[in-house]
Amino acid sequence: MTFTPAKWPRTLRSQTWFGGTSKDNIYYRSWMKNQGLPADLFDGRPVIGICNTWSQMTPCNAHLRDLAERVAHGIYEAGGLPLEFPVFSTGESALRPTAMMFRNLAAMDVEEAIRGNPMDGVVLLAGCDKTTPACLMGAASVDIPAIVVSGGPMLNGWFRGERVGSGTALWQMSEAVKAGTISNADFLEAEAAMSRSPGSCNTMGTASTMASMAEALGMALSGNAAIPAVDSRRRVMAHLTGRRIVDMVKDDLKPSDILKKTAFENAIRVNGAIGGSTNAVIHLLAIAGRVGVDLTLDDWDRCGRDIPTIVNLMPSGKYLMEEFFYAGGLPVVIKALGDADKLDKSALTVSGGPIWDEVKDVRNWNEDVIRPVSNALTDHGGIAVLRGNLAPGGAVLKPSAASEHLMVHRGRAVVFEDIDDYKARINDEALDIDETCVMVMKNCGPRGYPGMAEVGNMGLPPKVLRKGITDMVRISDARMSGTAYGTVVLHTSPEAARGGPLAVVKTGDMIELDVPNRRIHLDIPDAELAARLAAWTTNTARPSGGWAQLYHDHVQGADTGADMDFLIGCRGNAVGRDSH
Ligand code: FES
Repeated sequence: MTFTPAKWPRTLRSQTWFGGTSKDNIYYRSWMKNQGLPADLFDGRPVIGICNTWSQMTPCNAHLRDLAERVAHGIYEAGGLPLEFPVFSTGESALRPTAMMFRNLAAMDVEEAIRGNPMDGVVLLAGCDKTTPACLMGAASVDIPAIVVSGGPMLNGWFRGERVGSGTALWQMSEAVKAGTISNADFLEAEAAMSRSPGSCNTMGTASTMASMAEALGMALSGNAAIPAVDSRRRVMAHLTGRRIVDMVKDDLKPSDILKKTAFENAIRVNGAIGGSTNAVIHLLAIAGRVGVDLTLDDWDRCGRDIPTIVNLMPSGKYLMEEFFYAGGLPVVIKALGDADKLDKSALTVSGGPIWDEVKDVRNWNEDVIRPVSNALTDHGGIAVLRGNLAPGGAVLKPSAASEHLMVHRGRAVVFEDIDDYKARINDEALDIDETCVMVMKNCGPRGYPGMAEVGNMGLPPKVLRKGITDMVRISDARMSGTAYGTVVLHTSPEAARGGPLAVVKTGDMIELDVPNRRIHLDIPDAELAARLAAWTTNTARPSGGWAQLYHDHVQGADTGADMDFLIGCRGNAVGRDSH
């Protein structure tokens, strides 16, 4: 794919605010000058917004104001004018009911802030899970030059000589406490070891996955995804990104030039190779929707099917993001895919050139962290898309985080009507359940929860854990944290709260999972299923007012990205009339 840069110099968008001598032009400039900006900064040079998802409520992004300064240095150095602005920060660890419920709100904030303000290009500062897709979705809907800088992962966690992976260790240890193999005091002591520096989760969780997706899509400089948050090279990356966006504005290199179908296909393959989060499925579908790219769940299965997982990181493997960076990071993975003929090498990136030019000369410095394709963790690492009468719209499973012996399984359903029902009964020793059963949870999808919580990896019953069993088949319309693992069927569509077949599963029904054949089946007669669906009525309440109500009424299904129906598409950068 070739890109022809625009002619430079030319009059930029920001000059409709800052150029000229009208009353309005004076108004726009004069107020800006209260920040101590000299007059020549309004002379027609690129004005670059620094879109910052910084927040102390989002600890993974709490260091982003420092990075914003570095971005600003680069912008000034390249002859641009940097102007930082805040947007809603969707922190995964603290925001209730779920950060996912606010991804679309944050995307709308990003979009309107970019469109309504005097900027010619934008640097998107993101880190925690939802902040990356929210920024990309918003920027894609405006379609002015845009580039991502990730906050970077935390340093490795260490506890008693062992690596402690964000999230992954939490799930493992909480199960170990329930099984009685570690004490609660040990668990509490490990708490501080899990998060020992600024940055996002240090596993290949959703934050690291989405940083990798931004790079694989071509929306970040090569090498951006893996640099630890506190490594000085993270600041260098921010500085270089500031320089680069100025040239992107001069060239008029926009998201719509980069985010082509081939870019998404590359990203899907990269997700398989890194053992990335199932959350990437929803986010990439939503980003594609913003640029009018026809990306579907079937593309995920088609592109990911023969992709080996070669990155040996938790939750699929052993290491953490710090080691991934030292081994060479994402460029090594992209090169490996290119060498294996599983990459569109011509896909355009923010560099203005093809992705292959960025990676073709990189080296792998640790072949246990980034395995050669011939020694992959698993040969089939892509997300599996399952269909059948239980999920006519599709469901997903991450094979690299699942148990081989459960990939083909038939078991008796044990149904939980929602997360409260699950929590109320899972520890009951009288619950009729064993490791051959299939745990089913309803009403945790986009509309049902609302906000599609990361609860799909339901913890196992204590009486099963005590037998030393660590995995069971679990099915829901929920999501799962990218740091989690297990034979977990997620995003079942249509969700229960919309009357999908999941809504009418009963305890005692038999369910068949067949991952190799991409099948998920509720083994009851068709007529019985039809009768149950005809009799179904919703048992989830419509939220009363505010964003929750708007979200409930307009959010789409997980199978198409869970965007709001009125936010899908690119609305461009045109603004209305002056305000004065
Ligand atoms: Fe923010 Fe994991 S909780 S990146």
